[in-house]
Amino acid sequence: MTNSKTTTLLILVAAPVAVAVILYRLTEFDPAPLPDYVLSRSPPILPPKLYDRFLEFAERIGEGLLIGPEDLAYDAETGFIYTGCSDGWIKRLYVADTADDKEKAKVENWAFTGGRPLGLAFGPDKQLIVADAFKGLLRVSGEGTTVELLTDEAEGLKFKLTDGVDVGRDGVIYFTDASYKYSLKVNTEEVLEGRPHGRLMSFDPSTNKTQVLARNLYFANGVALSPDQDYLIFSETVSRRCSKYHIQGEKRGSIETFIDNLPGYPDNIRYDGEGRFWIALARGKTASWDAVVRYPILRKTMWLLIKVMKLPDLRSHGGMMAVNLEGEAIALYSEPGMHLVTGGIKIGNQLYIGYLTNTYVTRVNLNHLV
Ligand SMILES: *[C@@H]1O[C@H](CO)[C@@H](O)[C@H](O)[C@H]1NC(C)=O
Repeated sequence: MTNSKTTTLLILVAAPVAVAVILYRLTEFDPAPLPDYVLSRSPPILPPKLYDRFLEFAERIGEGLLIGPEDLAYDAETGFIYTGCSDGWIKRLYVADTADDKEKAKVENWAFTGGRPLGLAFGPDKQLIVADAFKGLLRVSGEGTTVELLTDEAEGLKFKLTDGVDVGRDGVIYFTDASYKYSLKVNTEEVLEGRPHGRLMSFDPSTNKTQVLARNLYFANGVALSPDQDYLIFSETVSRRCSKYHIQGEKRGSIETFIDNLPGYPDNIRYDGEGRFWIALARGKTASWDAVVRYPILRKTMWLLIKVMKLPDLRSHGGMMAVNLEGEAIALYSEPGMHLVTGGIKIGNQLYIGYLTNTYVTRVNLNHLV
């Protein structure tokens, strides 16, 4: 046969098969409309201070050595920052003010989870608690040598995407599973489906009990305890909001909105000890993404397209937002080119920023910004 005949034959056979596969898949994936508050058309809240040109004052730390430093945890006693990377290692870098520049750039492998460490937080006993997307909730002890599983299911449902974590002074661990349906590898599908498979949970090491505190969350993500530990803040990425869960007091167990209609899609949250929560915005709220969120048919189309091709990246305008204890936005640090910003911490006057896919941590001295 000639080449053109082969090609024609291939098309004759392949085309109907492709159509059949697509039709089958169309029925397989059924995105849901999102609730009204997610689709609100009112302009997002904007803080009084906007820094949209701050990266020129920033530096990259550990460039090339940190693959996807998703969340950051700081140990003030030793001056190390810990961060979970996509190669399964929790790495640490030395950032104490006294360190010279060479030492500051040094990155070492510290503990290997074998999964994908995301949220990190130190417990009162200085053990590092890890929300590992693939493994569940982990505890690292023995200076990084021992990694043990604490929990990976609740109410009969296994975690698929353990995501954010914080630990109380009493040792109780608060954490999220973004989805019991989709893993990190296919987390875009969780977003495109538009159904709430996320949970906020607690794990008490004194009883080994895992408790579900909130369910039906739209991509449950970062967690941060309040300074008095009477409540916590958690983010729902798809909902573009952070909620407050009351741990103590009259409202114990209840949930209310802390801040909503954010200018982007929230990820990890950290409290800075000085009256501010630092909320990472993985991506900004943009017109193109708004349309995807609003129309299930567009999400279905996107779902089909990502199966067969690489789509242009719509993610831009990520950044960090500072919010006070009253839930009022104070400052936003965001640039068009920032995407998949997943976590940030403030140490002294320095803001450190981590990313899901970038290969460095950004550091910026906030004193240099006016
Ligand atoms: C919790 O689990 C650990 C590890 O399996 C075990 O050593 C410990 O005794 C358990 N604690 C309780 C209170 O069951």
